[in-house]
Amino acid sequence: METKIFDISYEGAGVGQIDGKIVFVPKTLPGEEVEICLTKQTNSFDIGKVEKILSESPHRTESVCPYFAECGGCDFLHCDYEYEKELKIKILKSELAKVGFQGKIEFQPSDKRFSYRNKVKFEIRGNKLGFFKAKSNEFLEIKKCFLASEKIENAFKVVREFLQKFGMKGAKSVYIKEFDENVAICFLFDKNIKNWQKLAQNLSFFGNFSVFFAFGKILESDKTQIVGAYNSQILHTTFMGVTAKSSISAFNQINDFVAEKLYDFVLENVKGKRVVNAYSGQGLLTFLLSKECKFVYGIEYQKSAHDSAENLANAGNVKNICGKVEEKLPQILSTDEISAIVLDPAREGCDKAVLQSIISGKIPQVFYVSCNFSSLTRDIAFLRDFYEIESVKIFDMFPCTANMETACILRRKSEI
Ligand SMILES: C[S@@+](CC[C@H](N)C(=O)[O-])C[C@H]1O[C@@H](n2cnc3c(N)ncnc32)[C@H](O)[C@@H]1O
Repeated sequence: METKIFDISYEGAGVGQIDGKIVFVPKTLPGEEVEICLTKQTNSFDIGKVEKILSESPHRTESVCPYFAECGGCDFLHCDYEYEKELKIKILKSELAKVGFQGKIEFQPSDKRFSYRNKVKFEIRGNKLGFFKAKSNEFLEIKKCFLASEKIENAFKVVREFLQKFGMKGAKSVYIKEFDENVAICFLFDKNIKNWQKLAQNLSFFGNFSVFFAFGKILESDKTQIVGAYNSQILHTTFMGVTAKSSISAFNQINDFVAEKLYDFVLENVKGKRVVNAYSGQGLLTFLLSKECKFVYGIEYQKSAHDSAENLANAGNVKNICGKVEEKLPQILSTDEISAIVLDPAREGCDKAVLQSIISGKIPQVFYVSCNFSSLTRDIAFLRDFYEIESVKIFDMFPCTANMETACILRRKSEI
């Protein structure tokens, strides 16, 4: 079948049409004519796979990665970075148009298009490392990821060698994450393993790296038990001149350069205010905000991340609260007058109760930082009668992928 790609979907796939029905064709670009085969059909749309490119976009480039055609990680390795930027702005524009925003979208590029990730999760199958294929749970072995930083890449090679030599029975995935001291490696087992020491026998193979075992469904959960299996030590991260005691399981921004730009953007805009930093993670931004603001509350429900934040906060104008934003925010608003709130939730976005508190608390300014524009637009739609979008900026935290970090500044509409 042949189709002409006329648009780009929010997931970064080319959009074509066959006999009036929309077909999404990943890894194609607007303007291209392509020959495809259908891989999935639903009532409202189809999904296609490129067989042949009949006419190429001038922006098409050769992918640097041999896994691009199959891997679920990257979406834009087939075009140059300038064009990726254009596509991302176009995608966000059409998403935000759904909540009535027609204004300008600014774009903060990443300094690196490749080798920017300071943390990567790899799947383990037998003695192999890899990722999932696009939109599936099918494993794809990989021998290199172009998005991983050099340090992660080096550790990845050691993990691969280790698995080939000794294996790691029961491990489902492995996280490799940079810290000040060294790179830490954490194997995740979805079951509790009583005598895990047996599995730790050959870990001296990892030399200077620290190795952890985590037992649980997801690393970031407080329910997951984490043990130092080899060379475990207190880990620190230094970011924007601040050194914090950190942990393998706590959330961190994965692209340092872009994260710094994002934090600067927030800091510039909230000077002198009483601020709530909701979904505050390890508290770095809370700490930086305390230098610029009258008072700052950090709210974070993961205990280890909250503990890191507590370790950092030594000024008198900071209060870190461990708990759910939906429960803690109304308590703050009942006793304090807040002039701005920073929201940086996980992919699911904010609970309705959080948005309702913002509305009833009449907070003048909302900074919504989001890595998922579906939940972002849903939440903005909820706030829409009371807040208008003042400015929007994409922080390109995840080059080569259709994911993007978006910061929206919302201002309370004047009361009628
Ligand atoms: C995207 S991260 C942002 C972290 C932080 N703002 C930063 O820049 O590092 C989201 C954080 O929100 C936390 N979180 C998710 N849902 C939450 C909730 N309902 N209440 C409190 N914290 C939550 C997660 O544990 C995670 O640390």
